[in-house]
Amino acid sequence: MTDEVQSGLAGVISHRSAISSIIGATLTYRGINIDELAENATFEEVVALLWNGELPRRPALESLAKDLQKELRVPPGVLKVLRDVPKDSDPMRVLQLAMCALGLHDPDRDDNSLEANRRKAVRITSQLSAVTCAFHRIRTGKEPAEASVELGFAGNFFRLLNGRNPQPVEEEAVNKALILHADHELNASTFAARVTASTLSDMHSSLSAAIGTLKGPLHGGANRAVMETLQKIGSPDKVAAWLEKTLANKEKVMGFGHRVYKNGDPRAKHLKVLSRKLCELTGQPHWYEMSEKLERLVFEKKGILPNVDFYSATSYWCLGIPPDLYTPIFACSRVAGWIAHLFEQYADNDLIRPRALYTGPREAHWTPLERR
Ligand code: CMC
Repeated sequence: MTDEVQSGLAGVISHRSAISSIIGATLTYRGINIDELAENATFEEVVALLWNGELPRRPALESLAKDLQKELRVPPGVLKVLRDVPKDSDPMRVLQLAMCALGLHDPDRDDNSLEANRRKAVRITSQLSAVTCAFHRIRTGKEPAEASVELGFAGNFFRLLNGRNPQPVEEEAVNKALILHADHELNASTFAARVTASTLSDMHSSLSAAIGTLKGPLHGGANRAVMETLQKIGSPDKVAAWLEKTLANKEKVMGFGHRVYKNGDPRAKHLKVLSRKLCELTGQPHWYEMSEKLERLVFEKKGILPNVDFYSATSYWCLGIPPDLYTPIFACSRVAGWIAHLFEQYADNDLIRPRALYTGPREAHWTPLERR
């Protein structure tokens, strides 16, 4: 044991993993560049790739797609929970609660075998999306919508949220966003999931820890904060003054910077293209204009580039999605990656238990209450 503390575990390699890699500004899932996946794949193909290590052949893909489609609904016991929570609850808290409730109602809840975990993987991946959409509909006075056998995962996500089938451009946008967020090496929420699984706790518990970790504004919570920032700024001509003040106050600009990527996040460029297209199509070019201006000025002043959360915010906004659902959508996608990491963790488990460098008093003694 050394006495050296690596703050934030930055640069520490704690695991071997064959799921996704970040080399320079390139992100791959199982060796395939995400640029290729974002242009060509469906979310279902990416799920299969992450879980099984290779792209599925047609029969396996069709079977997975069908299984995922069948599970795109909220079990009645969990639906009751969603109806009971306060309507103004933060959806990320609801998701964490729902993950625990899904565990209570899961037919394999007491079975941590690989076979049971593979069944749970399919159920959870779909149920998390179904819960996100159902909670949004319930809180806005609507009944949960039903998935359609005619649609794939991305199309059904849109349908469950909005109660109507998507236009092709809407389906493509959701599919791309799901693919780009699906995995990202040993990020904080994935690490949290693996820490929990390393105690041989079950999948639902591990995923609930991951959801709680993703929620924070330094991680998945940044996409929501980006949209709130843009709304606060208000218009393109106010960007420069807002940034000046923010940096003078030593505040961070949400959606910029990254612990690993110092020369740009490879996911951001896809979302930038998407944001531009959706802002134009929906007649809201000012959001894109403000974002681009902010990107240019932050780079000029701090040399920092946008991350995945920056342009996803305006893309979701143009799809009509309210900001407090942006991080839940991140979770609906990342759950595929979390699960891949759980499979890897369970297959070669070692309890994750680091040490702390003690900085408290060397020797202290108990004092009776009346003498303190
Ligand atoms: N705005 C302004 N300054 C920044 C930002 C930012 N967003 N990010 C980093 N910096 C500055 C920081 O102040 C520091 O400057 P100085 O050396 O002058 O003190 C320098 O850049 C290094 O920053 P750091 O915080 O030490 O770097 P880190 O690797 O610990 O932080 C980060 C990474 C993501 C926590 C940070 O960039 C940040 O807080 N960004 C805003 C939140 C955000 O967008 N999070 C989403 C991350 S990507 C999606 C995900 O993984 O969930």
